[in-house]
Amino acid sequence: MLYSEKVMDHFKNPRNVGKIDNADGIGEVGNAKCGDIMRMYLKIDDNGVITDVKFNTFGCGSAIATSSMATEMIKGKTVDQALELSNKAVVEALDGLPAHKIHCSVLAEEAVKAAVKDYYDKKGIAYDPEMFAGINSCEHCED
Ligand code: FES
Repeated sequence: MLYSEKVMDHFKNPRNVGKIDNADGIGEVGNAKCGDIMRMYLKIDDNGVITDVKFNTFGCGSAIATSSMATEMIKGKTVDQALELSNKAVVEALDGLPAHKIHCSVLAEEAVKAAVKDYYDKKGIAYDPEMFAGINSCEHCED
């Protein structure tokens, strides 16, 4: 089978789809390879713990599955832990993706990073811009 059961499950029943009003961080990214876009919302408490996360994507099934899994993996974690989440870890948690779909998983990782960056910016928390180099911010989704 092309897709693992976990991929199919997260694609058919994606977790944490939607939007958070008054989110503490919003990340919007575009996939340089296919043009698909993703928006991620984070609610973060005073201890830097992600208490809620939601996403919306116009990406393909693999983008939906990886985003769904990524949101599950960062919920309840600190922003520092969320920044360490790699697309590789998400793909592994889904029992793999076909090689030509790996680029879709990058969207989830980058959306998390962009949302944390937005949180840092909003809060005035200093960071090394290098940490967020290479994220393809989305040009389509101006709020
Ligand atoms: Fe664009 Fe998968 S083909 S995110």
